Amino acid sequence: MTLSEQELFQQLDKNRLPRHVAIIMDGNGRWARLHGFKSRMSGHRAGIDAVRTATRTAAELNLHALTLYAFSEENWSRPKREIQFLMSLLRRFLKDEIPELMENNIRLVSSGHIRRLPDDCRMQLLETQKITQKNTGLILNLALSYGGRTEIADAVRKIATDAAAGKIHPDDITEERFAAFLYHPELPDPDLIIRTSGEYRISNFLLWQAAYAELYFTNVLWPDFNKRIFLEALIDYQKRERRFGGV
Ligand code: IPE
Ligand code: IPE
Ligand code: MG
Repeated sequence: MTLSEQELFQQLDKNRLPRHVAIIMDGNGRWARLHGFKSRMSGHRAGIDAVRTATRTAAELNLHALTLYAFSEENWSRPKREIQFLMSLLRRFLKDEIPELMENNIRLVSSGHIRRLPDDCRMQLLETQKITQKNTGLILNLALSYGGRTEIADAVRKIATDAAAGKIHPDDITEERFAAFLYHPELPDPDLIIRTSGEYRISNFLLWQAAYAELYFTNVLWPDFNKRIFLEALIDYQKRERRFGGV
């Protein structure tokens, strides 16, 4: 028996929701192929609706933060045409989404080397971030040109600079002080990381922050991700016992 969306929603314990969910949105290319499209781009286009649904659901559930892995550092190795298409989709999304973000009190932030984004895309990102910066609801963190190892290396560089300037002593470098140099130290670590498309890997996502995240893998391809699947992942998360190394 498959439960309806409403039944799933009722089943969810609203007092034990994850504070921060992160999603590796994978499978757009395979979705396009499966649906007989000649180009992978149709999959990317279809993936935008899933982004909207995931964001809306996270806001509706009052989650503190949703991080979406939209473009990795490694994705720069894709064909130029595909990158251009993804960047134009991103720019349009960032512009078109403003009313929806405002209506739902969502604050947009980003993680990654956004200086590598095309100018028009980066400008729109900064503009949308600025417009939404006073919103107090869900924090939507877009991982763009993001790499987990790069994030750690960037933090190491900042600490080394401070150490060389005598601002921090090597003996004082603790996990907490290190984490303060990551891109968004104010965000709690992700409690739940979801990956679509049946791949069982992290692909350089939130390496430091994922230390104790619960992982949820689904075979669903990203454009088919919907509220139901999000709720299923959250219900599965609530069945787990998080021990953090204890007993
Ligand atoms: C995820 O879908 C979107 C991005 C990485 C930008 P893919 O483009 O990786 O789709 P598959 O994995 O080839 O199916
Ligand atoms: C991970 O998907 C990156 C994003 C979802 C942005 P990829 O499709 O790039 O990852 P791999 O190549 O399967 O590891
Ligand atoms: Mg992929």
